[in-house]
Amino acid sequence: MSWRNTAKISGGVYWIGARDWNRRLFDALIPLPKGTTYNSYLIIGESEKALIDTVNPGFEKEFEEKIRNFVDPSEIDYVVMNHAEPDHAGAIPYLMEINSKARLVTTSKGAKMAQTFYKVPEERIKVVQDQETISLGGKTLLFIEAPMLHWPETMFTYLQEDKILFPCDFFGSHVAQGLYDEEVEDLIVHAQRYWGEIMMPFRVMAQRALEKIKSLEIKTIAPSHGPIHKNPERILKAYSKWANGETKHKATIAYVTMWNSTEKMIQPIVETLASEGIEIALYNLASADIGDLAKDLVDSRAIVLGAPTVLGGAHPLAVYATYLVKALRPPLKLGVVLSSYGWAAGTVKHIQETLGSSKIEVVGAIEINGPPKQEDIKQVIEVGKTLARRIKEEMP
Ligand code: FEO
Repeated sequence: MSWRNTAKISGGVYWIGARDWNRRLFDALIPLPKGTTYNSYLIIGESEKALIDTVNPGFEKEFEEKIRNFVDPSEIDYVVMNHAEPDHAGAIPYLMEINSKARLVTTSKGAKMAQTFYKVPEERIKVVQDQETISLGGKTLLFIEAPMLHWPETMFTYLQEDKILFPCDFFGSHVAQGLYDEEVEDLIVHAQRYWGEIMMPFRVMAQRALEKIKSLEIKTIAPSHGPIHKNPERILKAYSKWANGETKHKATIAYVTMWNSTEKMIQPIVETLASEGIEIALYNLASADIGDLAKDLVDSRAIVLGAPTVLGGAHPLAVYATYLVKALRPPLKLGVVLSSYGWAAGTVKHIQETLGSSKIEVVGAIEINGPPKQEDIKQVIEVGKTLARRIKEEMP
């Protein structure tokens, strides 16, 4: 075993996760340009042993070998399932098969999922309540319910003696490289992207969870994706900001263009916002990585959506992006819609309908016939100035 295959992260605590260097898509939706990891941890107490989460299906054999580096898998007493999604719970059936005594530790909602998804018999499940503990002998596991981060059953596990928090997806990032935070230079950028994709729709639940763990002394945060945070203050500070919906003087601009008319409306608004000191994140939806878009929505105050009308409504790529904006619930406050049509308008109405009940105030919507004329460009510039003023006004 090379040093990277397993690692001691504290006395009696080992990283035994799997690195998925080549995975490029998650949930058939989220691009993974840097792959990901499925982190699992083995905790060896004086009397008992526990696993914190497992690994994605397909990595079972590798996982078993990693456990065997330290103990025989049949010696494991508890398998803690902080989260039931298969990337962490997928190896549970395999493990429960090669070990006939281990009990699965989870929340009451997790227990139902373990039976449904992984066919774990009820008698092998130990349901834990919020703040309940299990002692492994010199290693005490404290369970903290943290629901809807991002499934209903999610919980955190805190190892009291070592002051390690195992929060599963929370504080994670999709990065295959590096064991510790200091080994990945742009980790906060990856963590922000991950937050935007996975946690942003659950900001209220995230605030509650952060409040709950505030009184814990946390030396290490060991999530189930990406590097372990040896310097937890940095990620805790970032999460506090994101959960509170703190935004910058920033606009995300997402557009699609067919014959460049919409793009000709986007260019002047980009220039206007930039000249007004607004930070810009610009995406052409024909080639954009939606993970990057999600990352920029995390701290943007405004969004500009640009699309031509096609087949009686907004271009499908713009509809998709608008739907994502609504579903991810970013802390956006302001919006602008720009559109060009050939013979019948429809994009502005379609985009506004797709945004539905989102709290974005549309401060400008321009829909023009054909390529923009000089007076159209002037109008776009005016909308850009209004948006910049409102972004600055709204900022605390
Ligand atoms: Fe990493 Fe929600 O699973």
